[in-house]
Amino acid sequence: MAWKFRKFCVLLVERVAVLVIGGGGREHALCHTLKRSPSCDAVFCAPGNAGISTSGDATCIEDLDISNSSAVIAFCRKWGIGMVVVGPEAPLVAGLANDLVKDGIPTFGPSSEAAALEGSKDFMKRLCDKYAIPTAKYQTFTDPLDAKSYIKDQGAPIVVKADGLAAGKGVIVAMTLDEAYDAVDSMLVKNVFGSAGCRVIVEEYLEGEEASFFALVDGENAIPLESAQDHKRVGDGDVGPNTGGMGAYSPAPVLTKDLQDIVMETIIFPTVRGMAAEGCKFVGVLYAGLMIEKKSGLPKLIEYNVRFGDPECQVLMVRLESDLAQVLLAACKGQLAGVSLEWSPGSAMVVVMASEGYPGSYKKGTVIKNLEEAEQVAPTVKVFHAGTALDADGNFIATGGRVLGVTAKGADLLEARDRAYQGVKQINWPAGFYRRDIGWRALPSETTTTTA
Ligand SMILES: Nc1ncnc2c1ncn2[C@@H]1O[C@H](COP(=O)(O)OP(=O)(O)OP(=O)(O)O)[C@@H](O)[C@H]1O
Ligand SMILES: *[C@@H]1O[C@H](CO)[C@@H](O)[C@H](O)[C@H]1NC(C)=O
Repeated sequence: MAWKFRKFCVLLVERVAVLVIGGGGREHALCHTLKRSPSCDAVFCAPGNAGISTSGDATCIEDLDISNSSAVIAFCRKWGIGMVVVGPEAPLVAGLANDLVKDGIPTFGPSSEAAALEGSKDFMKRLCDKYAIPTAKYQTFTDPLDAKSYIKDQGAPIVVKADGLAAGKGVIVAMTLDEAYDAVDSMLVKNVFGSAGCRVIVEEYLEGEEASFFALVDGENAIPLESAQDHKRVGDGDVGPNTGGMGAYSPAPVLTKDLQDIVMETIIFPTVRGMAAEGCKFVGVLYAGLMIEKKSGLPKLIEYNVRFGDPECQVLMVRLESDLAQVLLAACKGQLAGVSLEWSPGSAMVVVMASEGYPGSYKKGTVIKNLEEAEQVAPTVKVFHAGTALDADGNFIATGGRVLGVTAKGADLLEARDRAYQGVKQINWPAGFYRRDIGWRALPSETTTTTA
C-alpha cells in the first residue's frame, strides 16, 4: 500500500535531493530557487555560507572537502543525492563533474575537457575557427618576437590575452603598440601569469557594446535563459578597477529578441554541436561574453564561461518560475529538447554590497546588522549572501570582498531598482559600500542620478 502511494507520487513528479557545490551569492540564489522547486526534496550546499543556512534555503555542509571527489561521492551515497549542481569553475576544471558522472550521479556542470572552453582561450578560438563561430580574428604565440611582429603588422588598438585562467587580469586591451609589446613581455618573458601566460592570443580589437548571454545545455540541445547584464567596474559610471560584478539586472534591453535568436543560431548551437563532434559534450550553463559589433550590429564571441555568472545568476533565479530542479535534471539527462522556461514578467535587479577597499585589500570580520529589516522594507526583496559568517554573538560578519546581493523584482526596472535600493539602505554596515547607479544603461537617462 505504502509502495503504491509512493509510486503515485513519483508519477506526478520525480523528487530529488540536490547538492549545490559552492558558497557565494550565485549558490545562495540557486539554493533558494531549488528550495521552492516542486520536484526538489531537500537542498544541501557545500560549503555554503551563514546566510544560506540561516535563511533555511539549504543545509550547509561546511566540512565537505569539495576538492576531493571521493568525499563528495560518499556524501551523495549517504544522503541519497539525486543531482549535484556545481556553481564555480574551479571544481569543474579540476574534474569533479567527470568523477561524479562516472559514478552515476547526475551532475549539472561540464567535464574538465568541456570546461576548457573557459580554461583555455586557445581551445575556444580553435573551436570557433573549425565551426565558423563569429569571434575576433586572432593568432596564438609562444615566441615573443613572432607575437610582436604580428602586432606590428596588425596595428593598434589590439588585444593581448593569456591563454589560461588569470583571474580576469590576463587580458590587455592595448590602445598603442607599446602597450601591446609590454603585455607580450609580461606574459611570455617575465611570466607574470605563470603557465597560464606561456601562450598568448593576440586578437583584433572589437568596438561595440558588450552583452552577456546564458544558455542551458544538455550535451546536444540548448535553451536560452532570459537576458541579464552585470556591471564589472567598481565605481559609479562604470569606472575604476574590474571586480567580480557590482550589480546586475534582467532583462537587458541590449539583447533584443532578434539578437538572441542570432546568438543561438550563430554561436550557441554551433558550439554545442562542435563540442559533441569533438567528443567532449558540454552539459551545464554556457555563459557567452559578447561584443555587439558597432560596424555590423552582429554579435561576436569574446569569451566563454562554463557556469552561471555571479551576480547575474541572482536576478535570473528570482525571475525563474519554472521548476529549476526538474529543468537542471533534464539537462543532466540529455532531455532538454522541448523544454521551455517560464519567467516572471517585469524586471529584477541586484545591488552588490562589498567590503570597503574591494577589489583591493579589505578588512574581514566587520559586523552587518538589519538584514531581516532589509527583506521586509519592500515586497520581493531578497538578500543573497556571498561572504558572511556568524560571530560568537550571533551577528553576521563580512568574510569576503563581495558580501551581499540585495535583489528585488518589480513591474519594470525602475520599480525593481527602487525596491533593491530601499533594501540596501536598511542594512547597517558601516564597513561596506555599493554602487548607486546599477542599471543606468538600461534606464531612461533622467532617472539615472536619483538613486539612493
Ligand atoms: N577582442 C576584443 N576587443 C575589445 N575588447 C575586448 C576584446 N576581448 C576582450 N575585451 C575586453 O576585455 C574584457 C575581458 O576579456 P575576456 O572576457 O576575454 O577576459 P577574462 O579574463 O576571461 O575576463 P573576465 O574574467 O573578467 O570575464 C572584456 O570584457 C572586454 O571588455
Ligand atoms: C578523500 O575522501 C575520502 C573519502 O571520504 C577519504 O578516505 C580520503 O582520505 C580523502 N582524501 C584526501 C586527500 O583528503
